Amino acid sequence: MKIKNICCIGAGYVGGPTMAIIAQKCPHINVTVVDINEKRIAAWNDEDVNNIPIYEPGLSDIVKEARGRNLFFSTNVDEAIDNAEMIFISVNTPTKTYGIGKGMAADLKYIELCARQIARVSKTDKIVVEKSTLPVRTAEALKNILENTGNGVNFQILSNPEFLAEGTAVEDLLAPDRVLIGGDIDTVKGKDAVEALVNVYANWVSREHILTTNVWSSELSKLTANAFLAQRVSSINAMSELCEKTGADVNEVAKAVGMDSRIGAKFLQSSVGFGGSCFQKDILNLVYIAKSFGLNEVADYWEQVIILNDHQKRRFAANIVKSLFNTVSGKKIAILGWAFKKDTNDTRESAAIYVSDYLLNEQAEIVVYDPKVTAEQIYADLDYLGTRSDSENRSLVSVVSTAEEACKNSHAVAVLTEWDEFKELDWNEIYKNMLKPAFLFDGRRLLDKAELQSIGFDFFVIGN
Ligand code: UDX
Ligand code: ADP
Repeated sequence: MKIKNICCIGAGYVGGPTMAIIAQKCPHINVTVVDINEKRIAAWNDEDVNNIPIYEPGLSDIVKEARGRNLFFSTNVDEAIDNAEMIFISVNTPTKTYGIGKGMAADLKYIELCARQIARVSKTDKIVVEKSTLPVRTAEALKNILENTGNGVNFQILSNPEFLAEGTAVEDLLAPDRVLIGGDIDTVKGKDAVEALVNVYANWVSREHILTTNVWSSELSKLTANAFLAQRVSSINAMSELCEKTGADVNEVAKAVGMDSRIGAKFLQSSVGFGGSCFQKDILNLVYIAKSFGLNEVADYWEQVIILNDHQKRRFAANIVKSLFNTVSGKKIAILGWAFKKDTNDTRESAAIYVSDYLLNEQAEIVVYDPKVTAEQIYADLDYLGTRSDSENRSLVSVVSTAEEACKNSHAVAVLTEWDEFKELDWNEIYKNMLKPAFLFDGRRLLDKAELQSIGFDFFVIGN
């Protein structure tokens, strides 16, 4: 099947950047990204490409190049499905907040709604590609819905998990370590569908980097990759606590360990805890699947990665309280960085949310500065926890537009996202404008300890 029209359902952090690159690299394919969120689509269509809803280095230029040529953003989901030979599903799959599997299993309601819509609208054969991270065997559920509610057309389901990391999405998409495509490779139609998607990627990715597997392997590989990556962060974070007790330095340990080529140097940066939409969700999902097969030891093993991560966030916050003479009540604490990592405006599961919530429970006043996250997003993140009312959050938390303003008259500063600009701040000036003793907590190993101590800060850093 020759692909001329692609539809992508879901214009989020995965769908948006992925489709922008496909459109850029495949000018012969029309790519339409659809979403039910009208505001989001309007932002993707904003005349000023700097206003697109997702901040990713390099993305706005690509959107500028392809938008209106062969890249379109629309809320007309039915029309885009009808016109496409290939449909990507990139909708959100949050952890369930109700019912069976609450707090663990992925909520597949958005996926199911998509499947039903595709089945209802399709009048010609379609290749349906699951792009969102999904529990193993979701493809089977998709197939079931499509075949039982469709108009008798043929659907091929492919799994094509996304490995891009936010903040580096464009480079990850342009030069992926691998592209993984799972399909029904034992049948002719299944093989053809896989080949059709291989041909899309082959426009810019060499064939050796495109792996094809059966659907289940592909689905499980995605969960496994994220679990391994998160495990590395929790492993180094576990050592960070031990370093703080023993006088070792976690960066030195990470360097020594990472130089072992069997271990490798990446993903050993100790931090206040990993965040993002994937790691926790995928591990919880893995734990849920393992438990549902009665594999309790497997489930417990992976659950520990989350337990350690929660502990890391909590102990960082607890250390702030302890250092400030066991009380932060009524004290002003500046939070520098709200995004879950630098170079993104995504805040899902960001450590900053949990650290702030902890400090608010201790009656602190919080002032936040993040270069890319809006005030409304910050309030929405705190409200989502349900710890206190929106009006209480708004009265205790203020959001300002510079780091200097956040730190002014504060008792303590906590660096929670590793934005490059925090390294360039005039820390001498910040120190002068803070209450004394001036405390600085570096949750990202971003700042130079000796320099900040010489300015006069009481300086705390993870893992040292
Ligand atoms: C992750 C996977 O890397 C990606 O392949 C998958 O498609 C989606 O999930 P993402 O969550 O966007 O990507 O970012 P990532 O760079 O993996 O960082 C996740 C979290 O771990 C961030 O909070 C980051 O700050 C933290 N982290 C990462 C560390 O604390 N230390 C590290 O060494 C690496
Ligand atoms: P991700 O990080 O996986 O891309 P996001 O939450 O950023 O997740 O994006 C998912 C998008 O999918 C959201 O913009 C949401 O509005 C959209 N979406 C969810 N369900 C549907 C649906 N049935 N039809 C169209 N869009 C949907």
